[in-house]
Amino acid sequence: MKKRVGILTSGGDCPGLNATIRGVAKALYQRFGEDVEIIGIINGYSGLINGDWRVMQPYEFSGILTVGGTILGTKRTPFKLMRVMGDDNVDKVDAMKKNYKDMKLDCLLCLGGNGTHKTANLLAEEGLNVIGLPKTIDNDIYGTDVTFGFHTAVDIATEVIDRIHTTAGSHSRCMVVEIMGNKAGWLTLYSGIAGGADIILIPELPYTIDNVCAAIEARAAQGKNFSIVAVAEGVYDAEEARMKKKERAAKRAEQGYTTATNRIAKQIEKMTGFETRVCVPGHMQRGGSPSAYDRVLATQFGSYAAKMVEDENYGITVAMKNNHVGENKLKDIAGKSRLVPESHGMLEVARRMGISMG
Ligand code: F6P
Repeated sequence: MKKRVGILTSGGDCPGLNATIRGVAKALYQRFGEDVEIIGIINGYSGLINGDWRVMQPYEFSGILTVGGTILGTKRTPFKLMRVMGDDNVDKVDAMKKNYKDMKLDCLLCLGGNGTHKTANLLAEEGLNVIGLPKTIDNDIYGTDVTFGFHTAVDIATEVIDRIHTTAGSHSRCMVVEIMGNKAGWLTLYSGIAGGADIILIPELPYTIDNVCAAIEARAAQGKNFSIVAVAEGVYDAEEARMKKKERAAKRAEQGYTTATNRIAKQIEKMTGFETRVCVPGHMQRGGSPSAYDRVLATQFGSYAAKMVEDENYGITVAMKNNHVGENKLKDIAGKSRLVPESHGMLEVARRMGISMG
């Protein structure tokens, strides 16, 4: 009997998804040859719910190592709605279990971030054989030191900050660059350091605008005619930090902002007199070809997942721990996230370099 392995990509995409899919597939074909069949599930859990899938052919996994996005398509299917009956009256969990059975899967590989892992764990609890693979540019999956997609996004955001430097200097401006990351500041912290940002603001450390402006003014006093502020999209100030999430969102809506970035820029201009501009690279940070680092990581993770299929080791997700590829139990990591801890060495590095953290 052929082994039947289902694979899906869920949540926001990132560079390295295809490289990981390829890593899994090549290692499976290498091990099982014609005795394995890979079933591609289209658009993540949505395809699993709606029965949208197809048997993949080996040639489909060739030439995708360098390709951004995901050949399987992806969609956000929120975990919190998994148990909620929609207008279509479909019980999503029952539908996923039924389609898993109809596809005659031996196991299901779920490539995704925190939300994807919560649903993967739910399916494992429901008795399906599930293996997770941690992707996200946010690098915030609990139990792994790194996720694929992160380092490529760091490279992209760093290039943005590099390019912003020259125009900031020419115009004697302050430039505020908004980097992706709603809850976790890893991407802003790493690209801010790599790009030589002067001020780095992350969601884990609520800022005060007085501290931000003081840092800009201190630079000006040293004769520096520009400043670069790297802002994670999820930052809030010390006053907002004391508010409940809903209250904060209501205040932002009232002021006409979604993220704090534009507000920060306006305040800087008013308080320091520096002409200030905002740059939002947005989804560019998730686009294009994965970096060499991410291709290697994706191949390590993908081939490890194939080994887990061989060992029938399910209910787990692949992880990097202290430079070794291993795994965590889904139940141990689902629902948790990995934020930048206050004691993290990289924050120490930033502070030693004189970078203001707001
Ligand atoms: O989780 C990855 C991420 O890129 C976040 O950094 C960002 O806040 C979010 O996805 C954007 O999501 P969407 O693709 O739905 O706009």
